[in-house]
Amino acid sequence: MTGNLPRPDRRGEPRQVTILGSTGSVGCNTVELLAAAPEEYAVEALVAQRNVQRLAEQARQLRARFAVVADETRYPALKAALAGSGIEAAAGAAAVVEAASRPADWVMAAIVGAAGLAPTLAAVRRGAMVALANKEVLVCAGALVTAEARRNGARLLPVDSEHNAIFQVFDAAQRHAIERIVLTASGGPFRERSRAAMAAVTPAEAVAHPNWRMGAKISVDSATMMNKGLEVIEAHHLFDLESERVEVVVHPQSVVHGLVYYKDGSVLAQLGSPDMRTPIANALGWPDRIAAPSPRLDLAQLARLTFEAPDPERFPALRLARAALVAGGGAPTVLNAANEVAVAAFLDSRIGFLDIADIVERCLEALADRSIGDLDDIRDTDDAARALATRFIGNGARRVAQA
Ligand SMILES: NC(=O)c1ccc[n+]([C@@H]2O[C@H](COP(=O)([O-])OP(=O)(O)OC[C@H]3O[C@@H](n4cnc5c(N)ncnc54)[C@H](OP(=O)(O)O)[C@@H]3O)[C@@H](O)[C@H]2O)c1
Repeated sequence: MTGNLPRPDRRGEPRQVTILGSTGSVGCNTVELLAAAPEEYAVEALVAQRNVQRLAEQARQLRARFAVVADETRYPALKAALAGSGIEAAAGAAAVVEAASRPADWVMAAIVGAAGLAPTLAAVRRGAMVALANKEVLVCAGALVTAEARRNGARLLPVDSEHNAIFQVFDAAQRHAIERIVLTASGGPFRERSRAAMAAVTPAEAVAHPNWRMGAKISVDSATMMNKGLEVIEAHHLFDLESERVEVVVHPQSVVHGLVYYKDGSVLAQLGSPDMRTPIANALGWPDRIAAPSPRLDLAQLARLTFEAPDPERFPALRLARAALVAGGGAPTVLNAANEVAVAAFLDSRIGFLDIADIVERCLEALADRSIGDLDDIRDTDDAARALATRFIGNGARRVAQA
């Protein structure tokens, strides 16, 4: 939400857009919305990590000007796939930042992980509207990103469904009347499992989310509930609220996405079917509303919405994320980096499911005193946490934390 007043782009002309991470789950949903209204948008740049086939198809379909693949070894394949199209191709980390720096009014930040920080910052620093799906960017560098957004008049538009929900019902002009916000959590695929049963779950079980179809990393984060922990930190930065005023409630149907409690006792909530095209459309059209093909809610058929408190014993990741937010300094950066490394190791079957939170906790303990000033500090802390998590994984592979 940070930023100056709305800076609608040239009304009546196509909105110039760029997608960072166009080949992923959020990216493909964004491409679908753009393709449904080609006269409304002009696509400046698309960015992927290595999926050149899908990237080239999207670039041709949307007539993008610039297509970038982060993995330099994929450059020849991208060049070949775009031959004859007139679309400029490039590769490597600098080209990813260049894509974000080109003059699009609206940038979807949908790269997964802290790898999205440099290009997202580049878009923020030139004052763009940045639709932020990539929560890790705010977890590892929230103070820096929001300060840069304020300084440069960039507008952060929350895309995470819960934060987009809050964004829609958070009356910023009545901020003094807001008591707290509530993020809902589906509880993930292991909501009802004991810790003993969770010790043996496989990557395939962990990525099979009951309500949402998402990329592998966020699916595992949902299963550990680290996702909700990252979202508490994300909400702290987006809405400028301290940890105690950002609550979490488990809501297995994923229909109510977020709620704002006001001091007169009113509670405003946003509801919708669990379909990312709705929050993406909300950010894509902002400040207007545009059509999205998400299934409409049928309340009578749903019949029942249930809510319950999260269980910190079975899902320690949520507790760790909150502790990192309260500790401040480099703790959220450590939390995020250690989690990224541990989730990748779990997906690779090198550690067990319960080891993820265990490794994050050990990294937080060991790197507790890190302070963060500028981007270099963030990078150093991120590197240190990744190295330490990698060492723990190497030493204790398949150690499997106690149930
Ligand atoms: N999926 C959801 O429903 C959802 C909901 C809320 C928030 N989010 C957040 O949105 C972000 C994206 O999630 P996702 O589920 O869409 O992930 P995903 O399906 O794994 O897609 C990630 C995208 O980022 C690209 N990418 C990965 N590393 C990169 C790098 N170093 N440089 C450039 N591009 C890179 C990938 O390219 P390749 O395809 O070439 O690998 C892909 O386009 C995450 O931060 C997630 O937490 C997602």
